[in-house]
Amino acid sequence: MKVVVHIDNASRWCAALDNAFPAATVVTSSASAGERQDADYLAAWAPPTWLLTEQTQLKGIINLGAGVDALLASPGLPEGVPIVKLRDAGMAGPMADYVLYGVLHFYRSFDRYARQQRQARWVPQPVTGKADWPVGVLGLGAIGRHVAQTLARAGFPVLGWSRHAKHLDGVDCHHGEEGLDAVLARAQTLVTLLPDTPETRGLLGATRLAQLPEGASLINPGRGALIDEHALLDALGDAQDDAASGHLRGALLDVFNEEPLPAKSPLWRHPRVLITPHMSAPTPLDGAIDQVIGYLHAFEASETFTTVDPATGY
Ligand code: GLV
Repeated sequence: MKVVVHIDNASRWCAALDNAFPAATVVTSSASAGERQDADYLAAWAPPTWLLTEQTQLKGIINLGAGVDALLASPGLPEGVPIVKLRDAGMAGPMADYVLYGVLHFYRSFDRYARQQRQARWVPQPVTGKADWPVGVLGLGAIGRHVAQTLARAGFPVLGWSRHAKHLDGVDCHHGEEGLDAVLARAQTLVTLLPDTPETRGLLGATRLAQLPEGASLINPGRGALIDEHALLDALGDAQDDAASGHLRGALLDVFNEEPLPAKSPLWRHPRVLITPHMSAPTPLDGAIDQVIGYLHAFEASETFTTVDPATGY
C-alpha cells in the first residue's frame, strides 16, 4: 500500500501512518515524482491539481478536513474515486467554544463595551434573559449538532436548520425553505455552519439578511461562500460611524470568500466586524490521524462506509 500525504506538517502525519502500517510506503507530496507515483491513497488538504492528475491508480482520497469544497472544486479530481472526509475528528469542541464566545460577545454587549472603552464611557448595558435570545444554527452535521446542543446547554433557545428534517434533543429543529424563514425571523444571533455546496453558496444575501430581527448578529465559522459579503456590509450599516448600526448589529467572521482576507477588504476596517483567520476549529492531529488510520483499514478490507457525495458536496 502506498499513501501520499499533502498537508502542512505532513511529516508528522507520515510518521503516524508509518507507525500504524509498517508495511506501507508513506510519502509526502514533496517526495520525488518516482516516490509518489502509483499511490493507492491520497490523504490531503486542498491538494494542487498536479497532485491529483499525476495519480492514476487511486483507490481512495481522504480529505484532511471537514469541508470538501476545495477538493471537489479542483479540476484535477479523478472521477469515480471514493472520497472520505474527517467527520468531527475533535473539531466540534473547539468550534462550540468559538461560537459560544461569539454568542456571549453580543449577548453580554462586549461589542458595545469595546466601543465605550475607546470613548472612556461607563455605561452598563441591560442584560436580557437568555430565553429572549434565540440562536439560529444553520447546518446540523457532526459539528453543527454539537454546537447547537452546547448552546442549548448554555441556556439559549436554539433553532436548528438543515436541508432535511432532523431531530436533536434540546434543539428546535427546522428544515427546508419554510424552516429557514422561521429560523431567520427569530434568531438574535445566527450561526452558519453549512458546507459550501452549489445549494448553499450565497445562501445569505440581502433578502435573507433582512429577514433577521433588527439588531441581530451573525457568526460565520462555516464557509465564506455562504454569505454575500457586499450584502453583509450593507446590512451592517455605515462603517464611518462607530456608533451607528444598520439592520445588523455586528458580525464575527472566521471564513471568507478569499482567504487570507485581502488587506483591501472593507471588512477588516468595519467597526462592527470581528475577524479571525480561519482558526475556529483547527484539525487536531491525534483525532484526525486515528480517523485516517480507520479509513485506510476500511478501504483495504473493502468495508462499506459513508463516502462524500460529489453531487451534494458533503
Ligand atoms: C476546515 O475548515 C475544515 O473544513 O476542516
